[in-house]
Amino acid sequence: MSAYCLGPLLHEGKAKRVYTTDQPDLLAVEFKDDATAFNAQKRAQLSGKGFLNCQISALLFEYLELQGIPTHFLGLPPASSTSAVGEAGDEASGEAGGNWMLVRPVRVVPLEVVIRNIAAGSLCKQLPIAPGTRLEQPLLDLYYKDDGLGDPLLSEARLRLLGLVDDAQRIAIEQLAWRVNTALRPLFAGLNLELVDFKIELGYSADGQLLLADEISPDNCRLWDRGIADSQARILDKDRFRQDLGGVVEAYGEVLKRVQGVCPESRVYR
Ligand code: TMP
Ligand code: ASP
Repeated sequence: MSAYCLGPLLHEGKAKRVYTTDQPDLLAVEFKDDATAFNAQKRAQLSGKGFLNCQISALLFEYLELQGIPTHFLGLPPASSTSAVGEAGDEASGEAGGNWMLVRPVRVVPLEVVIRNIAAGSLCKQLPIAPGTRLEQPLLDLYYKDDGLGDPLLSEARLRLLGLVDDAQRIAIEQLAWRVNTALRPLFAGLNLELVDFKIELGYSADGQLLLADEISPDNCRLWDRGIADSQARILDKDRFRQDLGGVVEAYGEVLKRVQGVCPESRVYR
């Protein structure tokens, strides 16, 4: 028997649904198979993506916790139960499919924090920098999380103008993002994967602690296979979907296989 019951849907985003539970300090996140890009102008259903992103995120959160980086991750549901999930009041103990995760509730800071180690994506569209250029100093970009506005890039002055966070909070957010980069870059390098860039989201727990939230998966990281020179064949992330390269789920599966090889098993929430 699990120690919690699933409550009503709290929030549905493009890639996940967040449910309340009967415990005030526990939320259940369902990773969807929906793939979107370019602010959801491009959409598809990719069977298995939710499972892969959930499992990859769980392993990476677990790894980051071991490195002293606080995250919202509380564990995966126990696999033993067979109860169905999805309706309010269901017992959320054996979310079939492995695409559920238990997390601590946070007040999400509406910022997308991007760290870039190698030039790719929007950086190369907006500036005269060739894709694949190694950045001597990794770059941290802050975006205002608002789909209606297309998640605009922020300057420090614009962030101050918005008043979302004060200077001390901004510094703490940026420091946490740098620590994630410092932890994940060598982890992936050891798996023969280049962490080109990634986007994270953060939030404050009820007791005011800044936590890494959302997910860390090939949906929001660029990962290149270091053993492959071809600029398309090496892509193991959502750029396969964005660029219509095919093999998206297979690429995510390869990432999970490699991450499973080095990360401690994910906690089970009981
Ligand atoms: P960008 O090059 O499109 O700015 O993306 C930088 C990184 O952020 C890349 O790893 C993909 C990720 N990302 C998201 O997770 N969500 C988004 O909405 C966007 C635009 C990028
Ligand atoms: N995450 C955004 C979307 O779902 C953009 C992207 O990842 O390209 O539309």
